[in-house]
Amino acid sequence: VTEGLSVDDPGLHLLARELEGVDPTRVLLVHCGDLPGLRRGATRLVLDIREETGAVARTIRADDRAAVARLAGFAHAAVWPRAHLGKDFTFACLATGARALAPGGALYCSVRKAKGAESIADEMAALLGSVETIGRDSGYRLLRSVRGDVFDATLAAEREALRYEIRDDALGDIVLHSAPGVFSRRGLDDGTRALVQHVGARHDDPVPTAILDLCAGIGPLAIWAARRFTGAHVLAVESNVLAASLARDNARACGVGDRVHVELGDGRLAHTGVEHVRPSTVELALVNPPTHADKADLVALLAGLKTWMAPGGSAFVVVSRAGVATQGLTQAGARVEEHRADGYTILHARW
Ligand SMILES: C[S@@+](CC[C@H](N)C(=O)[O-])C[C@H]1O[C@@H](n2cnc3c(N)ncnc32)[C@H](O)[C@@H]1O
Repeated sequence: VTEGLSVDDPGLHLLARELEGVDPTRVLLVHCGDLPGLRRGATRLVLDIREETGAVARTIRADDRAAVARLAGFAHAAVWPRAHLGKDFTFACLATGARALAPGGALYCSVRKAKGAESIADEMAALLGSVETIGRDSGYRLLRSVRGDVFDATLAAEREALRYEIRDDALGDIVLHSAPGVFSRRGLDDGTRALVQHVGARHDDPVPTAILDLCAGIGPLAIWAARRFTGAHVLAVESNVLAASLARDNARACGVGDRVHVELGDGRLAHTGVEHVRPSTVELALVNPPTHADKADLVALLAGLKTWMAPGGSAFVVVSRAGVATQGLTQAGARVEEHRADGYTILHARW
């Protein structure tokens, strides 16, 4: 399972059954993974680099704007809504799929009624003129729209180009740019704000020079830390390709691009670091871990902190409930203090 994508989901099987036997080279998979049974040759958009491991289809990263813009001539485009990322991302995916179809091609979307099937059907009708339900299974509906004479290119372009601007008192004058498909796209996450305020109220001595932001998203913690600790280098690790690319742009736009090093990577894996931030050198780590990770992933991510931290360094992890995270840190040998802050728990781990 990667960020809302599970091969066991009945909705994915609805899509897979529909596309069974079609020419895979005419299939575009818009963030729905490799459909079970689909032969080699399809083109697949991926949002997270972990999706590339073992991929059967030819993958294109969602942040490769030029490659995404060139997608065209497909007979089938399949969309899988990642509910936790919001409707605007689903709409952007539908727009990409519809735009990439050849005349007569079909856009498919498998939706759960509880997850706003009506608005998704309305969007498909707005893009391509009409929509029909062609399958049902375990509460899922498979929707299809065919690209005939109607294609609202203006609406599609609007959906694909949507961007947001984030400002927040806790970040001072930092302005962040964000987009559909990333965590907390419309505003600073409450947990991130609680973490910034908690760490900002401390008077660290010595002042940290090597900082890690694990699971960095579009970079609020990394950029805030680079601005606050002006002599520090920050390594920001993030696996979502759109988020990592936005984090890089945001750091540059905030004037700290030379000290915030964004690495597109899986934070669970060993990493050699960058010039100023190596394993065993990190004095301050800031972590707002993924809320949708399963227990094993969360434990692996947090246990990995141990290899990064300098002796006596402080890792701060913000969570809504302490249990699993505290357990993961303690199992990795950390001493952990728990602090309550604005409805969140901030774990202070030291090795
Ligand atoms: C709760 S968000 C926090 C984002 C950002 N730090 C903030 O405060 O807004 C967690 C982030 O972790 C990323 N993530 C999930 N699993 C990851 C992994 N194995 N390695 C690196 N990043 C991961 C997600 O894509 C997401 O952007």
